[in-house]
Amino acid sequence: MSFPEDRPRRLRRTAQLRRLVRETRLCPQDLILPCFVAEGLSERRELSTMPGIFQETVDSLREMAARAAEQGVGGLILFGVPARKDATGSSAWDERGIVQRALTSLRAEVGDQLLLFADDCLDEYTDHGHCGVLDERGEVDNDVTIELYGRIAVSQAQAGADVIAPSGMMDGQVGAIRSALDEAGSTDTAILAYSAKFASCFYGPFREAAECAPQFGDRKGYQMDPPNRREAMRELELDLLEGADMLMVKPALSYLDIVREAKDRFELPIGCFSVSGEYAMLKAGARAGAFDLRSAVMESHLSMRRAGADFILTYFALDICRWLGEEVGSSYDIAHERLE
Ligand code: PBG
Repeated sequence: MSFPEDRPRRLRRTAQLRRLVRETRLCPQDLILPCFVAEGLSERRELSTMPGIFQETVDSLREMAARAAEQGVGGLILFGVPARKDATGSSAWDERGIVQRALTSLRAEVGDQLLLFADDCLDEYTDHGHCGVLDERGEVDNDVTIELYGRIAVSQAQAGADVIAPSGMMDGQVGAIRSALDEAGSTDTAILAYSAKFASCFYGPFREAAECAPQFGDRKGYQMDPPNRREAMRELELDLLEGADMLMVKPALSYLDIVREAKDRFELPIGCFSVSGEYAMLKAGARAGAFDLRSAVMESHLSMRRAGADFILTYFALDICRWLGEEVGSSYDIAHERLE
């Protein structure tokens, strides 16, 4: 049986109608750009597996931040590549460390125009490349590691980070970081928990970018097993109970079911991280002529928002802002109005 009024195509007829009834939009302020800042570089260096993405110097990062602020991007998240690594990753909490210096410099450049997120983890800083310190068996020692994450968070907050983002998937890391921040008086510093972070092959290019591939073994003993949806809900809930302010799912595209369920279950803002391998995949597909880059990036990022992500960490943040700005009557105008 059909009804004469069942004609959904009526609202698809023109661009104006489609725009009116669009349920999901991408806006510049929902995007966070991941950045790599490397110590001891004389000039920025492009990454072979991520064309268009660079290891930045503090100066080149400042320039990029100014551009990002101008475009209305929500913020940056910093990953440090230190000159020296050791067994405990001690340069991660050095007040003169690369991320701490970059945070201070960026704050001076952009003021409050951009949110500054700092990744809180040890793999970029340890000589063995694992996300924590090792015990005598060569396994990551959870409880010693989360104490160090607390120290890192305090130094990043003091250097000016608005949001601390722990990515190591240690048990109790959010609680340990919250206590450390509160004890140091940084009660206003927020925590974005990488709650459901899966042991994914899509982190491949990041490991070149951050020079942090594990020297032995893998990360399956701490990151989540990709088949597990219910366990992801448990991880998200634990982080909420430990005091996380925002929750995140990572990677994005292969885990949109997790994003949707997280959004339906929890009241906190939900983010997703469209990771390095997703960037590489879209770039490579476009280069091979399989699709147009802009269309593929817009469609895939819209799907993350439609799945329920309030915000997206993506290496395409600046490209998306540029494309939105080129669309007539786009959400870009609305985004700018809303910022004022
Ligand atoms: C670990 C960390 C990783 C990413 C973000 N934080 C790598 C890993 O877990 O191996 C990956 C991000 C990306 O692939 O873009 N500190």
